[in-house]
Amino acid sequence: MTGPIEIGQVGLGAWGKNLLRNFIMLNQCHVKVACDIDATQRAKASEMFPGVVITNKYEDIIKDDKIRAVVIATPPAMHYQIAMEAIRAGKDVFVEKPLVLSIDEGKSLVELAEKNDRILMVGHIMEYHPASLLLKQYIKDGILGEVYYLYSSRINLGKVRDNENSLWSFAPHDISLIIFLLGKFPKRVTATGSYYIQKGIEDVCFMTMHFDDKTMAHVHVSWLDPHKERKLTIVGSKKMVVFDDTKASEKIWLYDKGVDTKLDYTTYDEYMSLRIGDITIPHVPSGEPLRFECMHFLDCVKDHKHPRSDGDDGLQVLSVLQAAQNSLEKGGAPIEVLKIS
Ligand SMILES: NC(=O)c1ccc[n+]([C@@H]2O[C@H](COP(=O)([O-])OP(=O)(O)OC[C@H]3O[C@@H](n4cnc5c(N)ncnc54)[C@H](O)[C@@H]3O)[C@@H](O)[C@H]2O)c1
Repeated sequence: MTGPIEIGQVGLGAWGKNLLRNFIMLNQCHVKVACDIDATQRAKASEMFPGVVITNKYEDIIKDDKIRAVVIATPPAMHYQIAMEAIRAGKDVFVEKPLVLSIDEGKSLVELAEKNDRILMVGHIMEYHPASLLLKQYIKDGILGEVYYLYSSRINLGKVRDNENSLWSFAPHDISLIIFLLGKFPKRVTATGSYYIQKGIEDVCFMTMHFDDKTMAHVHVSWLDPHKERKLTIVGSKKMVVFDDTKASEKIWLYDKGVDTKLDYTTYDEYMSLRIGDITIPHVPSGEPLRFECMHFLDCVKDHKHPRSDGDDGLQVLSVLQAAQNSLEKGGAPIEVLKIS
């Protein structure tokens, strides 16, 4: 097929406008129709993106035979229905994170995409961040040594959601990034959290993933916090690294720090010594991660290839979220994570 890929987008809220801005900038596609049920959002989008037809019914996008791919940026509770209808209509689909809000829905969506030979990509944006790619390279090249443990924080004040809790809203980013970096899947999860603003919707969650070996990853998410933090620390046997995504530059600091032990020793000081070496601040290629993510989706549609964050990736994240939710509801009890295949 020649010419730009015709796409349609459903959902023009805070994040949807970022997606639309990026897709509009890309020559590989043409955004034909965008939709929102909210008149205020439609008016804002019409003003910001005058070249795009704005409608109030997503069915206008589903029914349009010229539209090859659909981008879904509605609240997660709507992802399943819209994605199913789009796939059934023969479209490739990009759906924001979390893929859906239950494992059963996730499975049936992935099955439907496979059956219909359609692309299903989930917006695990951290897998497209240039800093994440550098961290993955560090791990692959053994620069950090054995990865002992990781911890991340994704906290700020707002946006308070009224459907999914802070775990389902924020943690997909951290879970997808950590699985992507380590290339392995957690065995067990523990999570605690609490709600203060809306009954039953946790504003803050602390989750720990335990992997097969001793590797451990802790995730703190909250929309009720005075600080804005987007930070990941990885502690390895050789080096330690901090990725601070709130910084405009110098996002990665690589520390040559650690504890060295010797097999042959006579005193405790000989046995164990602290290594406090240089700090390196590597260049991280610039560019908006969302732009890279959008480009990847279009490449996958054009070449009909599996996205990095495909439906299976979405399912793996869902299974960790579900296990963490179960743990949360059991006061932090350890819960086995079932790898869905
Ligand atoms: N990748 C990221 O970093 C990131 C950041 C923020 C949000 N998100 C995700 O993006 C999605 C949207 O989040 P948001 O912050 O823009 O939420 P939002 O509430 O600001 O916007 C959602 C929009 O969808 C519209 N909508 C709801 N049902 C609809 C329907 N049936 N048809 C058409 N429009 C409908 C709403 O009117 C609203 O304008 C969520 O899945 C969220 O998790 C991702």
